[in-house]
Amino acid sequence: MRPVLLIALATVVLVFGCGKTEEPVIPQAADSLATPAAAAPQPSEEETAKLLATLPAPYDTADLENGQTQSAFCRACHTLTADGPDLTGPNLHGVFGRVAGTKPGYAYSDVVKMAGFTWDPAHLDQWLANPTTYMPGTKMTFIGMKGEKDRTDLIAYLKVQTSFTPGAPTAP
Ligand code: HEC
Repeated sequence: MRPVLLIALATVVLVFGCGKTEEPVIPQAADSLATPAAAAPQPSEEETAKLLATLPAPYDTADLENGQTQSAFCRACHTLTADGPDLTGPNLHGVFGRVAGTKPGYAYSDVVKMAGFTWDPAHLDQWLANPTTYMPGTKMTFIGMKGEKDRTDLIAYLKVQTSFTPGAPTAP
């Protein structure tokens, strides 16, 4: 009887153990917000305004402060700065205007690799609202950002942060 019991126990542990890794990760907002954004060099007001102006409404008048607050949900898995490392997710520098799933050196899921579209505010908005329904099979286990205004503010903040390279002229 003993081995049977052990197998049953192992099965229970396995099932529950696996279930855990599939759960969406909800990072601690306060913790992950504390340092990275503040420590990284920031674009000047002029550069920020220039980059914002490249976005369509309502992104061009978004609340960047709230965008930064919302970005805490991404920083557990993504860096935003030029040459930042890949974490669980790929570094997002230069993501606007980049074809989905094409950052060199990062192992994407097939669904993102095959997506074929270029990241822009409209695609990001749908993706961030619910990654797993937008691209079923993705390995981005983020539960989604339900607030429309939060997504708008975050996308504008991402545009500024991921398009700006310290010391380099601001790209249009
Ligand atoms: C739990 C970790 C995790 C969190 C949290 C997370 N992501 Fe991701 N993200 C990933 C992974 C993993 C991928 C790769 C997805 C794939 O290949 O299926 C990814 C992919 C992406 C991509 C596609 C990049 C490309 O090069 O095509 C974007 C854009 C993105 N994430 C933005 C965000 C933003 C913005 C947030 C915050 C709201 C966020 N992610 C939160 C893990 C995460």
